Amino acid sequence: MNYTQIFDRLWQDYIEQNPATKNVYDLFITEGETVYNDHIAFRTFNDPRINIDVLAKVFLKNGYEERGTYKFEEKKLLARHYEHKTDIHAPRVFISELLTEVFSDFLQSTVRKWISEIPSELFQSDELIYSGNVPGAPSFEVYQKLRAESEYAGWLYVNGFMANHFTVGVNSLKKLDSLQKVNSFLKSNGFLLNDAGGEIQGTPEELLEQSSIKAGIIKIQFLEGIFDVPGCYYEFARRYPDADGKLYSGFIATSANKIFESTNFYKK
Ligand code: NI
Repeated sequence: MNYTQIFDRLWQDYIEQNPATKNVYDLFITEGETVYNDHIAFRTFNDPRINIDVLAKVFLKNGYEERGTYKFEEKKLLARHYEHKTDIHAPRVFISELLTEVFSDFLQSTVRKWISEIPSELFQSDELIYSGNVPGAPSFEVYQKLRAESEYAGWLYVNGFMANHFTVGVNSLKKLDSLQKVNSFLKSNGFLLNDAGGEIQGTPEELLEQSSIKAGIIKIQFLEGIFDVPGCYYEFARRYPDADGKLYSGFIATSANKIFESTNFYKK
């Protein structure tokens, strides 16, 4: 499988499980735009069996290399980003991991138990990034307790391994060529923007602006029954040239912090 096939497969899973994301994509196409992905993001826990380095393997094997490391102090996350060595149109890959040791014993033991229910042969397999919530039906009570400490942990406990978001590269859009235009287009089509800390995160001076819609609500089978919870979301990024005239290619932890809140629990 080459990297194009990897992204196609991730995309199919993402739109199947989160139909709202396909609706957004279709809106851009109907508007006459060509959609390129700025980046695709994954979430994981920092356990050595499934941490960033483990998820990155399949991309490193397929022409990618590491280009940046980021620390999200408030969310207690570490992240790295990867780029394809030669294909400048290939999406960046952004992988974050939750620093579980700074959380409660409850969160740590829940995560350990969750990982222990994943067959060990999957840890080293290229299939890991598509495998979803391998341990099966989660407990709604446990989910609620995890969320109280970390929305990120709650999301991961329920959704598992899949693309957390795809990101439209706004620089490649013709008509909707600013985040302001993208945001009002989305709102006029009935989508809810993640407005934690403002609708646009980052500034032209920081060379990266991002916005996102709130994750669509999906129905999940829990042990206690079916409940509505946030699934994946769609993100939008506009990059600006640096002093050398080259488009900035990294990420900015301070301004991306609130973007993680796109998957916070909310009621429709
Ligand atoms: Ni992102």
